[in-house]
Amino acid sequence: MFTQGKKPSRRGWLLQTLWAAIAITAAVIAYPVVMFLRPRRATKSGAMEMVAPYRVNELRPDSEGNWPPPFNFGGKPCMVVVTPDGEVLAFNAICTHLDCTVLYRPGESDIFCPCHNGVYDLHGRNISGPPPRPLEQYKVTLRGTPGQEEIIVSRSS
Ligand code: FES
Repeated sequence: MFTQGKKPSRRGWLLQTLWAAIAITAAVIAYPVVMFLRPRRATKSGAMEMVAPYRVNELRPDSEGNWPPPFNFGGKPCMVVVTPDGEVLAFNAICTHLDCTVLYRPGESDIFCPCHNGVYDLHGRNISGPPPRPLEQYKVTLRGTPGQEEIIVSRSS
């Protein structure tokens, strides 16, 4: 004869299995969201830094003339440009006018905002159109073999 206290019921076992499946599904969904939202590695000073997804020798227009796109740097798009004298600079790629994403135009040696034709020079200074302020500039450190260095971008917190 079956007794309730000694052996779990079939219904209880099914409920436990269901709750375990729900918990596992929630964890599988939440993990990538948490990893995406968590702050990037911070330096001792509290500044944020990360290695760009391309090296110095990969910074050039592709066959269609497109510059490597901005990458996510702590929730903000970061663009890396190379000046005609070979200086590597990094900026927040959000236009200071109305928050469009700006583009590096190597042919014109400028940074362009297509929303309202705003133009910045290669040091991020607003030089034409409606942008009211320069782009936020990040610190760049190069590390590794000359010509193929990793690009480390950092900013104060
Ligand atoms: S949003 Fe960039 S110029 Fe207006």
